[in-house]
Amino acid sequence: MRNLVARVSLTVVSLAIFISTTSAHPDVHEVGLLFHFAPGVHKIQNGEIADLSHSATARVEGKTSIATVGPTEAFVMNGKTDWLTIAGSVEDAKKLLPTKEFTVAAWVNLNAQTEWGGICGLIRDNGDSEQGWMLGYNQSKFTFALASKGSDDGNGRLTVLAGKTDVELGRWCHVVATYDGVTMRLYVNGKSDGESTAQSGDILYPTKGTYTIGCFIDDNEQYPLDGAVYEVKAYSRVLSADDIASISTKNANLIKAASITKLQFLVKPYLQFGTQTSMTVMCETSRKTKMTVDFAERQPLAKKNATPESQLISELVLTDLKPQTSYFYRVTCEDDAGGSVVSDLSSFQTAPKSDSPWAFTVVGDTQRNPEITRKCAEYAYALRPNFMLHCGDVVDNGHAKNQWLKDLFEPMSVLTSRVPMFPVIGNHEGNSHWYYDYFSLPKPEYFYTFEYGNSQFFMIDSNKPLAPDSEQYKLLEKALASSKATWKITCHHHPCFTSDDNDYGDHIGGKGGEPSWGDKNAQQLVPLYEKYGVDIAFNGHVHNYERTWPIYRMTINQKKGVRYITSGGGGGHLETAAPQRAWFSVHHKSVYHICYATVHDRTIQFKAIDLEGRMFDMFEMTKPEDR
Ligand SMILES: [Fe+2]
Ligand SMILES: [Fe+2]
Repeated sequence: MRNLVARVSLTVVSLAIFISTTSAHPDVHEVGLLFHFAPGVHKIQNGEIADLSHSATARVEGKTSIATVGPTEAFVMNGKTDWLTIAGSVEDAKKLLPTKEFTVAAWVNLNAQTEWGGICGLIRDNGDSEQGWMLGYNQSKFTFALASKGSDDGNGRLTVLAGKTDVELGRWCHVVATYDGVTMRLYVNGKSDGESTAQSGDILYPTKGTYTIGCFIDDNEQYPLDGAVYEVKAYSRVLSADDIASISTKNANLIKAASITKLQFLVKPYLQFGTQTSMTVMCETSRKTKMTVDFAERQPLAKKNATPESQLISELVLTDLKPQTSYFYRVTCEDDAGGSVVSDLSSFQTAPKSDSPWAFTVVGDTQRNPEITRKCAEYAYALRPNFMLHCGDVVDNGHAKNQWLKDLFEPMSVLTSRVPMFPVIGNHEGNSHWYYDYFSLPKPEYFYTFEYGNSQFFMIDSNKPLAPDSEQYKLLEKALASSKATWKITCHHHPCFTSDDNDYGDHIGGKGGEPSWGDKNAQQLVPLYEKYGVDIAFNGHVHNYERTWPIYRMTINQKKGVRYITSGGGGGHLETAAPQRAWFSVHHKSVYHICYATVHDRTIQFKAIDLEGRMFDMFEMTKPEDR
C-alpha cells in the first residue's frame, strides 16, 4: 500500500514539472532526468557543451554549431562530420544510461531523408551482434531500435520500430521513444506513431560503443544527422502518452513554424540520355520544387524550360537542339514558399553527326567507395568524353537512398553535370525503384538501346533471364537485326567471358568444381552477338579489368570474333584472376580504372587507364568494309 501511494504522488509531481519543460531552464529536480541537452544557457566552450541538468558534458564533433533555426536556437549538424558525443565508451556512459524503463525525447528538424540517421542513443549493430538502443530515422520514417535481455539470442537482437508518419523535411518535429520493460513506443508530434512488444526486460548494452546525439555510430557504420537538434532529454522513467502530448501541444508554434531550413540540392543537376537534338537534365532537391533550366549556346541563357509540377526528383528534356553543339545551362529550383536554389553554370554537348569522331568512357562497379569513384569521374572527365558508359553495380545497396547521393552522384558530379551517363543495372541495385527514379532511360529502362555517332549501343539487364525465349533476348535480336550502325556495342553487368577466380573459376578457386569462365545466363546472348556482328561486349561485376581476344564459336577469330571487355574497377573491392590462364584472355589486371574509346568511321582506339593516369592496355581496330 505504501508503494502505491508513493507511486501515485510521484506521477503527479512528475507531470506537473514536465508541463513546464522544453525550455532552456529545466528544473534540475525533474524526476528521473538523465540529461537535458539544449543550446541557450550554455555555449560551446573548448569543444564541449554542458547539459542543463548539470549531469553531463558532450564533446562537440566536427563543425557542429549553434544557430537560429526558425523560432529557436539549435545544434546544426551537416550529416557528415557533426554530432555530439555524450560518452565515448560504455563505461563513461554508464551513469547516463537507463537500465530498463526510459524515455528519450527530442526536437529535430531534418534537411534530408537519409539512411539510418541517429538522433540519440548508444547502439551496436554489427552482423548478428545487436545491442543498445537508438532513436533515429531511416529515409522517411522515424525509428526506435532497442535490444533487451528478454529477446537476447546469444549476441543480442534489435527490434527496429519504424513510425508511420512521414518525416517532413525542414520542419521542427517532436520525436519521443519510450520503453517500460514490455512495450516500445514511438511518438511523433505528441501522437502515437507505433509500438512493439518484441523486446522485454532490461536493456542489453554492448561492451563498447559511443553515446551520441545526432549520429548512429558503431564499429562499421556511421550515419550522422543532417539537420538541426533543438533539445534532447533522456529519463530513466516512462513518460505517459498524455505527458508527451502536452509537450507537443505546448510547443505547437515550433511544429507549425514554416519550413525554414535551407532548400538545397540533394543531387546536383546531372545529364541523361543525350541525343543529337535533345538532352535530359535532372536533379533532386530537399523539398518538392519546380525546376527551371535556362540554356543557350552562349550567355545570356535566353532559352527556358520548366517542369509543370513540384517534385523531389525533377526531370526536363531539352528538345530541338542542334547536333554536335555545346550549350551552357543553369538549373533553378523553387519551392511553393518562394525558396529557391540555383546551380552553378554548366555545359553539355549534343551527340555528334554520324560521320564525326567522338569518344566515350567506361566505368563499372562504383558501389560504395566514393573517393575511388570521384577519381574515376575526374580521370574520365579529363578526357572530355561525349558520355560515360556504366557497367552496373552503380551503388552497393540500391535500396539505400543515401548511397545514391553520397557514393554515386556526389563524387561523379564533375562528370555527370557535363556528360550523360548511360548505365546498365547490376545485381547490387537490387532492382530498386531508385534506379528507375534517378535514371531517365527509354522504356522498359532495364533494356534500352541508343545510337551515338555511327554506333549503336544495346543495354541489357543480365539479372533477368536471357534465354532465347526471354523478353530481352527477343528485344535484343530485333534491335540487332534492324541496326544499320557501323559499330554495335553491347553492355550488361555479368560477363560472358572472364578469368575471374572468385565467381566463375571455381575449379582452382579452392572449390574444385568445373569452371564456367563466365555467367551462364549472359552466355546465352553469345550466339546473337556472333550472328549480328557485335564488335565489343562490355560488362562489369568482376572487380577488375579484362580484355579477351575476338571470340567466335568458342575459338579465337580475328575476322569475325566479338571482343569482351570487363571494366569493373570503379570502387568495389578488387578481385583477382584465377591462378591459371584462361584461353581467351589478352590482358587482365586487378586495378581501379576507367576505359576510354575514341571512334572515327571504321576505326576504334581503345585504352584502359588506371587512377594514376597510366595506360595499361590498349588496342586499335579498323573494321574491313565487308564486316
Ligand atoms: Fe560489383
Ligand atoms: Fe555485380
